[in-house]
Amino acid sequence: MLNDLKPKEIVERLDRYIIGQNNAKKSVAIALRNRWRRKQVPEDLRDEIAPKNIILIGSTGVGKTEIARRLANLTNSPFYKVEASKFTEVGYVGRDVESMIRDLVELTVNNVKAKQQEAVQEKAATIAEERVLDLLLPGSEPKSNGSGSDGKDENNVDSNFSDSFPLKIVSEMMGAIQEGDSNVNDNQNKIDIVASKSDKNISSTREKLRKMLKAGKLDNRLVDMDVPSRAMPMIEIFTNAGMEEMGINMKDMLGSIMPKNTKRRKVKVSEAMKILSQEEAAHLVDMEKVTSEAVDLVEQSGIIFLDEIDKIASNGGGHGPEVSREGVQRDLLPIVEGSSVPTKYGIVKTDHILFIASGAFHVSKPSDLIPELQGRFPIRVELHSLGKDEFKRILTEPKNALILQYMALLRTEGVEIEFTDDAIDRISAIAVDVNNRTENIGARRLHTLMEKLLEDILFEAPDTNDNKIVVDAVFVDNQLLEIVKDEDLSRYIL
Ligand SMILES: Nc1ncnc2c1ncn2[C@@H]1O[C@H](COP(=O)(O)OP(=O)(O)OP(=O)(O)O)[C@@H](O)[C@H]1O
Ligand SMILES: [Mg+2]
Repeated sequence: MLNDLKPKEIVERLDRYIIGQNNAKKSVAIALRNRWRRKQVPEDLRDEIAPKNIILIGSTGVGKTEIARRLANLTNSPFYKVEASKFTEVGYVGRDVESMIRDLVELTVNNVKAKQQEAVQEKAATIAEERVLDLLLPGSEPKSNGSGSDGKDENNVDSNFSDSFPLKIVSEMMGAIQEGDSNVNDNQNKIDIVASKSDKNISSTREKLRKMLKAGKLDNRLVDMDVPSRAMPMIEIFTNAGMEEMGINMKDMLGSIMPKNTKRRKVKVSEAMKILSQEEAAHLVDMEKVTSEAVDLVEQSGIIFLDEIDKIASNGGGHGPEVSREGVQRDLLPIVEGSSVPTKYGIVKTDHILFIASGAFHVSKPSDLIPELQGRFPIRVELHSLGKDEFKRILTEPKNALILQYMALLRTEGVEIEFTDDAIDRISAIAVDVNNRTENIGARRLHTLMEKLLEDILFEAPDTNDNKIVVDAVFVDNQLLEIVKDEDLSRYIL
């Protein structure tokens, strides 16, 4: 399992996406390993061991968020990113801080549910197939219909349906199939099905339809079915009005009181299969298990990324917004220290959630945070700003490197694009230059530069006869140098 990665292995994996920032990688790797270690510790001591939360310090665009996000992905840990400064906004009420826990749980429940639904996908599809056949051939259902049916009952169909079975429906069905637009002009199939009319053998018709369904030959046919309609917006409005604080979800409550809102619609068979598979998958999943697994995951391996923590640190002053900043820190404290937060999925203990805070700390310093909070973030790592060599590597090395992204995008138009080494060198040099002269936005500068650099190519790609384009230093200079020289222009464009 990925959860027992050694620190070195964690760093190795982070290296695939993030260039440099070795200290930060090392710290997060240790924090993650400590979690695993804690789980091996005898139980009486285990609960005493608190996570060593981390503050990542570094200016914008140097990889803070990226490191935390990749780390969470690596281990499938529930991950939630929240801007600490959001809580200083007007209208902020103390308990809102707890909403990050509720959001994390909500997210995790959805993920766990999705995973479990995937696990029962095959079973759900089998049941959905039966239900679609029911829609296609009403009256031919096996005895136990829909959910829970394992499809074995089909052999009994004959005894359930006497000769008086409304053959009209079947023949209408056949007619419908014959006049059907699309894929169903396969003569062999028509003949087969028409023949079965005289068979009076519903079950064999059903089997034939099943074959066609499986082969995708009915995909474009329309069936009438009850389709769940979207939640009513009216209810959305008042879920936001603070009820959530009590862990009560109005939508769920009303949802169970009010009749299920469905609408009869004509849908394509392919879509019906999708809708019904989802519905059946949802039935098959045990929500109680999902919830308790999700809560457990959050408590044991959740990671909360507290962005812009520097914005809630107060540096001197003492009136106006300062007050509320410190207030936010005080509100954060119990959550970071470990408390029980009520959510609609039950109480969630935050004691072992790992908090990774991040901020530029240009104006304030970590020491401007209230002492209690400082104590809860014992690990401080500085991320350094990125230079030319790092930019060169960021452009080419990560698995999701920008250059690779553009190559893939253009390949879809039949255009192969290649970047020479000196082009990469020029782009990186220009990125450093623009960062120095305007604002240092770190690696994000590469995004704006690349987009401008390739603008014409991206525009022309579908119409061009060139299916091989080489970007070299001369091309880079032609595209970018004018803009780079003009500081005002680069402020706007790059
Ligand atoms: N060291 C790096 N290696 C590879 N890519 C990087 C690196 N640093 C930044 N990037 C890229 O730059 C973009 C911005 O990075 P990220 O979101 O991590 O910035 P940040 O440090 O969180 O900045 P902010 O303080 O503005 O939130 C991402 O698309 C990321 O891929
Ligand atoms: Mg960030």
